[in-house]
Parts: sequence; C-alpha cells; structure tokens
Amino acid sequence: MSEPIRVVVTGAAGQIAYSLLYMIAKGDVFGPNQPLILHLLDIPPMMGVLEGVVMELDDCALPLLRQVVPTADPIVAFKDVVAAFLVGAMPRKQGMERKDLLAANVKIFKEQGEALDKYANKDVKVLVVGNPANTNALICSQFAPSIPKENFTAMTRLDQNRAQAQIAGKLNLPVANISNIIIWGNHSSTQFPDASHGKVRVNEGKDLSVREAISDDAWLRSVFVETVQKRGASVINARKMSSAMSAAKAASDHMRDWFNGTSSGKFVSMGVVSDGSYGTPKDVVFSFPVTISNKKWEIVKDLPTDDFAKKMLETTGKELEEERAEALTIIGA
Ligand code: NAI
Repeated sequence: MSEPIRVVVTGAAGQIAYSLLYMIAKGDVFGPNQPLILHLLDIPPMMGVLEGVVMELDDCALPLLRQVVPTADPIVAFKDVVAAFLVGAMPRKQGMERKDLLAANVKIFKEQGEALDKYANKDVKVLVVGNPANTNALICSQFAPSIPKENFTAMTRLDQNRAQAQIAGKLNLPVANISNIIIWGNHSSTQFPDASHGKVRVNEGKDLSVREAISDDAWLRSVFVETVQKRGASVINARKMSSAMSAAKAASDHMRDWFNGTSSGKFVSMGVVSDGSYGTPKDVVFSFPVTISNKKWEIVKDLPTDDFAKKMLETTGKELEEERAEALTIIGA
C-alpha cells in the first residue's frame, strides 16, 4: 500500500458529492491500493449537513479511507491536495439572470483558483463540475498561475456517457461495446455530441463504425444530438432535481482516466484549454476528444469534420467566447 493522497471535493454537502464521495472512497478513481485523505469543502451554513456526511463515510467502514477533513475554509480544503473535484457552485435561483449566475460563480472560482495556487500540490489535477463548468475552469486556472493550465479541466463526461448510452440503446448492445463518441464544446445545450468517429464492437475483435452500425445519419444528426443536449433538462423534469448519481459517476470516470490513461485506440472527451485545434477559439475551455498517458492529456488531432460538424463547433465556440467575455468583464480584466 502506498502513502495516502489528499483529495478535495467541494460542494461536499450537496447531491452530486453524496454519490461521488462513496465512489472515490471505495477506490473507483485512484484504485484499490491507494489510501486517501478526503478533504470536504462546503459553505458555513452547510457544516451541520456535512457532519452527517462524515458520519456516513465513517459508517461505510471503507478500508482505503484514512481520514476525512470537513471544512468551510478553502486553505484547509486545498492544502497539499493532488486531485480536486470542484463540484460546489452557486445554483441558478428563480428570477436569476445568466449574468448574475456567472458573477456569483466567477467569484467562487476566482477564490478557489487563488487557494489552489497557494496551497495545493503544484501538480494538482482539477476537475470542474459546478456550472457553468467550462468558464468556471477557465477562471480558476487564471487565478492559479503557478499551476499549469493543462491541469484545469471541465466535465463533459456525463454528456459523453449519455451519448454512449443512447447509441447502445439504439443498437441494443451493452454500453461497453460503444467507444469514441465525442462531446465538442461547452457543457450546455450548444454542445455537439458527435458519433461520427464512434466505434461499435459487434463481436469479439470486430469493430464497425457507429455510422455503419446505425445506418441512419439523419437520426445521428437530429434525434441523437437533441436527446443528449436536453438530457439534463429531461432528468430535472422527471426527478425534480438535477442529475446527481450519473454526474458523480462521470466525475469519477473523468478523474480515473486522467490518472490511469486511456487504452490504445480509445479517446474520451474533456473540457480543456483550447489551443485552437479544429478552428476553435483559443484560450477557452472547450471539450475535445483526448487521449491520456502518464497523467497528461493530448487533443486527438486531424479527425475529419464535415460542414455540419464545423457549424456545430462554431456555435458552441461562440457561446464560450461570450461567456469568457462576460466573465472577464465581471473580474474587471
Ligand atoms: P447541490 O446544490 O446539491 O450542491 C452544491 C453544494 O455546493 C451545496 O452543498 C452548496 O452549499 C455548495 N457550495 C456552494 N458554494 C460553495 C462554495 N463557494 N464552496 C464550497 N461549496 C459550495 O448541487 P449538485 O446537484 O451537487 O450540483 C453541483 C453543481 O454541479 C451545480 O453547479 C450543477 O449545475 C453542476 N452539474 C454539472 C454537471 C456537468 O456535467 N458538468 C452535471 C450535473 C450538475
């Protein structure tokens, strides 16, 4: 067994964290031989609830979990962490404008960026889940100049998992047989779920392209895209609460792949600081297909994109530029 690592989850008293903490603490993310010290950050009014979460973590009697540190102090929360799940964010309240929501979140992610910069391990891997996730990740990285920009990512894995599940359902195959579905752009309704590079394992050792297997391009460009784009809203309509279990599973998948790498020929989608690949705007956090090895991601280059894809990428890229401009105005930069 190695030495315990320190991992922080913010929004630790919230819905997503309630599923995510269990997944992390039982070894789904960092493996069955990696002991953990979990730092749990939430805001002062939530400390009572957080106490209950700590009790439950204790009561799970998880062998990998060496210590739990509940706190409302970002200094304590971010001290020496090697992985940060930034889940906590200001939720949209009734009557709240998009701008007000962004302003509240810019403030949170600026403060957390500054705290990561000062107190976290310099190689900390940061996953932003709290919305607007892409722009929050960008702001966070800007206020943590001593940590490489590559270490800040936003979660689009839930969208990827949703897309994979839609394709598996359509083909009546297990979800594990589907790979290389891409989410491009923003984690918002402008995202582009793209199955055109997807693969389907039909029988042992034999792969088909998703397009061949589905043989219905019109469906892939309409029903499939819209179902994935609107899946979050559908869950809210049905559950009266937003996706939590699936969001936690996606956060766990994202960080696990970042630490362990992707297997040969496979890629996953992550919001990362754009280098302008595929004609996207530079320096926004844009979701791309990436491969990962040695804990470093690399954008998959040179996938062919047709006119439909180019248009979709342009729309979601524009939205990210607008969000960045609004966020920078709020900061006064
Ligand atoms: P929730 O409202 O149940 O929990 C959020 C928690 O964050 C609360 O306990 C709150 O007190 C805490 N919090 C607020 N400000 C904080 C701060 N400054 N520091 C630390 N904690 C803070 O919300 P839920 O369902 O857990 O969702 C969390 C976020 O994840 C939301 O922004 C939601 O929109 C987003 N989300 C993102 C997804 C993605 O795919 N990227 C998918 C689903 C949700």
